[in-house]
Amino acid sequence: MGEQVVIRPARAEDAECCGEIAVQAWRPIFHAWREILGDSVWKRVYGDWELQKRSSVVCQLRDHTHLAAVSEREGEIVGFLTWRLDHDRQIGQISNNAVDPGCQGHGVGTAQIEWALDYFRSEGMRAARVLTGGDPGHAPARAMYEKAGFARALPCVEYFLEL
Ligand SMILES: CC(C)(COP(=O)(O)OP(=O)(O)OC[C@H]1O[C@@H](n2cnc3c(N)ncnc32)[C@H](O)[C@@H]1OP(=O)(O)O)[C@@H](O)C(=O)NCCC(=O)NCCS
Repeated sequence: MGEQVVIRPARAEDAECCGEIAVQAWRPIFHAWREILGDSVWKRVYGDWELQKRSSVVCQLRDHTHLAAVSEREGEIVGFLTWRLDHDRQIGQISNNAVDPGCQGHGVGTAQIEWALDYFRSEGMRAARVLTGGDPGHAPARAMYEKAGFARALPCVEYFLEL
């Protein structure tokens, strides 16, 4: 990508931009799920995905700004990452994270995860966890986590049935 990407703690005013990146980044995943689940179940379960995804990311960035970071290139936000810390059990959990589709494939996603792992260590965390999909749409996410060092996984399956 050429220009340097800087990862920095988020600010509340970053929230709307990250909500938009989330919608753009997750669109191919939700569209692929429609093929897998069929129209009827997909519409019932994920028909409002865009609203849900945008509002969960915007709320997290705006209301829990200290649990989020953004990646900037030339002053423009190109990705974001959110997390939770369980101080009692010393576990850092990576939550929503995404990279603007126009900037994917250049290492930003992996750099964000590595940034979070360093931050978890600095906060005294002893383990990191993240939940992701086993579907083809999440192949880039799985590759990114493995590249960042996540080597142990518990696969799980979510079933759907139209009634
Ligand atoms: C997952 C995501 C954040 C990765 O961002 P990125 O900046 O493209 O990631 P990187 O460039 O660091 O790529 C990491 C690895 O993913 C793999 N990868 C990247 N794009 C890929 C693609 N389109 N298809 C398959 N693998 C891909 C590559 O193996 C890459 O490793 P490499 O550099 O050794 O080839 C981005 O694809 C995204 O926003 N996806 C939608 C949201 C999402 O799935 N978030 C995670 C939810 S759990």
